[in-house]
Amino acid sequence: MTKIKKVVFPVAGLGTRFLPATKSIPKEMLPVVDRPLMQYAIDEAVEAGIETIVFVNSQGKKAIEDHFDRMPDLESELKAKNKTDQLAELDNILPSYVKCVSVRQVQALGLGHAVLCAKPIVDNEPFAVMLPDDLIYSENKGVLKQMVEQYEKTGASIIAVEAVPEDKTHLYGVVSGDEFENGLMKLNAIVEKPPQGTAPSNLSVVGRYVLNGSITQFLENTKPGSGGEIQLTDAIAEQIKNETVYAYQFDGIRYDCGSKFGYLQANVEFALRRSEFAEDMKAYLENLNFKEFTIK
Ligand code: G1P
Repeated sequence: MTKIKKVVFPVAGLGTRFLPATKSIPKEMLPVVDRPLMQYAIDEAVEAGIETIVFVNSQGKKAIEDHFDRMPDLESELKAKNKTDQLAELDNILPSYVKCVSVRQVQALGLGHAVLCAKPIVDNEPFAVMLPDDLIYSENKGVLKQMVEQYEKTGASIIAVEAVPEDKTHLYGVVSGDEFENGLMKLNAIVEKPPQGTAPSNLSVVGRYVLNGSITQFLENTKPGSGGEIQLTDAIAEQIKNETVYAYQFDGIRYDCGSKFGYLQANVEFALRRSEFAEDMKAYLENLNFKEFTIK
């Protein structure tokens, strides 16, 4: 079976949900504690065995590529000043065997269109897609690695899902299918952002996908859908008609950092998991006097 060696990051989006913060900074570069969202996603991809990273980007997204470049000037300055900890931080950004490739999405026509832009690089091979604003904390194994292992057993496309409250289903792709068995559920439907009250279940799509190469053919025939955009969800809906596609209930905690509140939660909870902040953060939260805050 073909191994999953490539991941596509559709990072061309405008990040309008996070304005004004994202006017000149890509939303993927917003930090959670001290690391950009993109770095968490790349770490998860590397752990899963990825060797090629494909950025599908657009104007104003140079900061993402730059983050994964070496910076000789900064490195020599840190070396000269003996700042070994900071140097190690830079060294850990990306292993040298991992290659980064960029393709342009010249028009913002949707997530499906962005993934299709990576076709010349992914070819007909299976590949992963990650949406860095879905930040997932896993105690043991990263979610993409969990999914790659499932893929190696089944050879079928796999979409990460999690249950959300029913009043939130209209914000996500939503799936339905048979019963879950060992975390996998054979899909029989997937819809993008169903209007409230029409969702086939409360299982929402999370931004981790392992897709068989056939998806690019389905994407080529996908017409604009929800929000007038070419949706990856709609191409997966076609894929389901032709081959088995699984939903995967992952082991981990997902933070929807595409929403401001999810991003705030991620910052607090990731700090609570870091030895250098945990005690201070706990004490700070415990001693907060909510009555002192004027809410505007
Ligand atoms: C995208 C997908 C959606 C999925 C979501 C997960 O939506 O289209 O199916 O549930 O990511 O974060 P977006 O957040 O780009 O609107």
